[in-house]
Amino acid sequence: NTITKIAVVGGGGVGKSCVTLKFLQNKFVEQYDPTIQEIYRKSIIVDEEAAFLDILDTAGQEEYKTLTDRYFRNSHAFLCVISYDQRGSIGQIREYVKRIQRAKDEDEIVGLLVCNKCDIAKEERAITEEEVKKLSLELNLNMVECSAKTGENINDLFFTLVRNLRKK
Ligand code: GTP
Ligand code: MG
Repeated sequence: NTITKIAVVGGGGVGKSCVTLKFLQNKFVEQYDPTIQEIYRKSIIVDEEAAFLDILDTAGQEEYKTLTDRYFRNSHAFLCVISYDQRGSIGQIREYVKRIQRAKDEDEIVGLLVCNKCDIAKEERAITEEEVKKLSLELNLNMVECSAKTGENINDLFFTLVRNLRKK
């Protein structure tokens, strides 16, 4: 069995590290500590078959961005994260998806549009569901709402990527 390399990308503070840590350790941290770059390993059983995951938690803050296109080229699947409290995260994810497509020289990447912080009440959100749906069509990525805080759909993100890669 081979290793499945997943990269978690998106703007600063959208919750990439929280999503990753919730999945790995079932923990949620309130305080914000910007990531430089972390790699985690976890094996899971998906549909009675083992999957060995290599998860790359990337930096969203400009000053820590050091990732080269080689990292994207070497990744098999992508969690493209936006967050309901950050309008700017939409533009940022557009840029990431373009960059990934260029690096992999493929228009159809295996990935999900992840809308994190869905625990935030609808009237307090900076992004509407309509906008997310449009973005999902535009980027040609299925979207999944999740919350690292409540744990909603967190495991699903990773299981879906593994299944999508197997179908490929
Ligand atoms: P960088 O590493 O700088 O790119 O940021 P990041 O995308 O890794 O964000 P991080 O996971 O550090 O989370 C940023 C902030 O958002 C933290 O204060 C978290 O507590 C908060 N946060 C993350 N996920 C959620 C969520 O699902 N709901 C809510 N309400 N807050 C969240
Ligand atoms: Mg982080």
